[in-house]
Amino acid sequence: PHKTIKKICCIGAGYVGGPTCAVIAEKNPDIIVTIVDINPTRIAAWNSDTLPIYEPGLDKIVKGCRGRNLFFSTDVDKGIIEADLIFVSVNTPTKKKGVGAGYAADLGYVESATRHIARVAQSDKIVVEKSTVPCRTAHSMRYILEANARPGIHFDILSNPEFLAEGTAVPDLMRPDRVLIGSLDTLAGRAAAASLADIYASWVPRGQIIAMNLWSSELSKLAANALLAQRISSINALSAICEATGADVDEVSYACGLDTRIGSKFLKASVGFGGSCFQKDILNLVYLSESLHLPEVAAYWRQVVEMNEYQKRRFTDRVISSLFNTLTGKKIAILGFAFKKDTGDTRESPAITLVNYFRAERANISIYDPKVEDSQIWMDLTEPGVVDDLAELQKQVSIATNAYSACDDADAVVICTEWDEFRDTYLDYGRIYENMKKPAFVFDGRLILDRNRLEGMGFRVETIGRAASSFKTPRDWE
Ligand code: UDX
Ligand code: UDX
Ligand code: ADP
Repeated sequence: PHKTIKKICCIGAGYVGGPTCAVIAEKNPDIIVTIVDINPTRIAAWNSDTLPIYEPGLDKIVKGCRGRNLFFSTDVDKGIIEADLIFVSVNTPTKKKGVGAGYAADLGYVESATRHIARVAQSDKIVVEKSTVPCRTAHSMRYILEANARPGIHFDILSNPEFLAEGTAVPDLMRPDRVLIGSLDTLAGRAAAASLADIYASWVPRGQIIAMNLWSSELSKLAANALLAQRISSINALSAICEATGADVDEVSYACGLDTRIGSKFLKASVGFGGSCFQKDILNLVYLSESLHLPEVAAYWRQVVEMNEYQKRRFTDRVISSLFNTLTGKKIAILGFAFKKDTGDTRESPAITLVNYFRAERANISIYDPKVEDSQIWMDLTEPGVVDDLAELQKQVSIATNAYSACDDADAVVICTEWDEFRDTYLDYGRIYENMKKPAFVFDGRLILDRNRLEGMGFRVETIGRAASSFKTPRDWE
C-alpha cells in the first residue's frame, strides 16, 4: 500500500523543473503542482505572458494549467510544507574553485535546497532528486535530511533523472523513451517509488517506467549523456578524416547509421556539441573515475571532451586559413548563438568559443540569433563583473536584428546553429552575396546548406566534414 500524491512542490523553476512539472500538472489535473524558486524575476516571468524559457509547445501547456493546478511562487517554505512529494531541480554547475575545480559538480545548490526541506518540513516527504548529479548524491541528501529532520519526520529519497533535450522538451516529456525511478531497496523506498510511478503512469505506459537501485539510476543519467556525446565526438573525429581525404561525412554517417546496431540518430557532424549537460556530465564521470582510482577510465571519457574542443579549434583554423591567414579588421557574421536550434539557451554553446577565437584574431564580429537575448550574448562574452570588458568587447562585436544585416559587408558568414531559418531554402543567400565583400565565404558548421547551390551563386563554401571544392586528393594517395 503506497501513498497517493496530492500535492507536489518543485524546487527550481529552470529548464528542467519548469517544463517537467508543467507536463505533470497537465497530465494529473487532480494533483496541485507548485514550482518555487528563489529567483523572483524568474518566477515573475513564469507568471507572465512571456515565459523565461523558449520551448515549442510549452506556452500552451503552462497557460492551460496555470492558476488551475499549476502555480509558480517564491514562497519556498510554503511549497515544501504543503507538498507530499518534492522535486529538487536546482542548478548543478561545474565547480570553478577548490577540490575538483573544472570537473566536479558544485552541489551547493542541491545541498542548500535539501537543508531547506529538512528545516521547514512538518510532515513526511518523498524527496526526488531530479537535477543531474554525480553518482551517490542521493546518499548525501538522505544524510542531510536525516541529520536535520524534526523529530518524528520521515523522508524517502528517490532518484528520477530527466532525459528531455532542450528545444524538444515538450514532445520528449510527452513520449519519453523511459522514466527511471531509483530508490532504496527497502519497503519504504519501494513504496515511495510506487507513489512517483503512479504520477507518470497517467500518461507513460507502465512498461516504460523502470524501477532500479538509487545508484544505478544516478549513474544511468551520466552514462546516457556520455554515450550520446561520445557519438558526436566520434563522428566529428571522422569529419576531420573526411576533410583530409575527400570523403563526405554525411555519406559516412548515413552509411554507418543504417546498421541497426549503430542507428542513425545523433550522428550529425557539427562544429561541436554544447548545452548544459554533455560536457558537465562527462567531466563528472571523469572526476568520479579518478576518485575511484580508475585513471584509464577517466582518460577514456576525457578524450570525448578534448575531441570537442579540437573540433571547434579546427573549424576556426579553417576559417582563418581560408581567409588568407588573417582576420584582422575583417567582418565575420555569426549566424546562430544558441547551442542548438529551437532554444534560446547558450550554455557551453560552441558559438561562444568561436567568437572568442575570432576576437583573438582581431576580427570584427556581427552576431544574429533568432531567440537569444542580447544581454545573454554580452554576458557570455565577458567575465562577470568586469566593466571595462564590455566596452572593449563592443568595439569588436555587435548584435544584429536579422541575418541580412549581420551579413552586410561581411567577408565571411559562419553558421554556428542549425536554425531552420538559416537554410538556403528560407534565407535569400543571393541577397546576402550581393552585400558581402568578395570573395564571399560561407562556413557551414552545421551541414545545413546546399553547397552546390551556394557555389552556383558565387560563394566559396567550406563545410564541416567535406573537403573544399578546390580539394585535390593528396599526392601519395593517387
Ligand atoms: C564484426 C562486425 O559485427 C561485422 O559487421 C563485420 O563485418 C566484422 O566484424 P564479428 O567480429 O564477426 O563481426 O562479430 P561481432 O558480433 O561484431 O562481435 C565482435 C566482438 O565483440 C565479439 O568478441 C563479441 O563477443 C563482442 N561484443 C559484441 C561484445 O563484447 N559486446 C557486444 O555488445 C557485442
Ligand atoms: C542532452 C540530452 O540529449 C538529454 O537527454 C539530456 O537530458 C540533457 O542533455 P540537450 O543538451 O538539451 O540534451 O540537447 P541535445 O539535443 O542532446 O544536443 C546537445 C548538443 O549536441 C547540441 O549542441 C547539438 O547541436 C549537438 N549535436 C547533437 C550534434 O552536434 N550532433 C548530433 O547528431 C546531435
Ligand atoms: P536546469 O537546467 O538544471 O533546470 P536552471 O539553472 O535552469 O537549471 O534552473 C535551476 C533553478 O533553481 C534556478 O532558477 C535557481 O534560481 C533555482 N534554485 C537554485 N537553488 C535554489 C534553492 N535553494 N531554492 C529554490 N530555488 C533554487
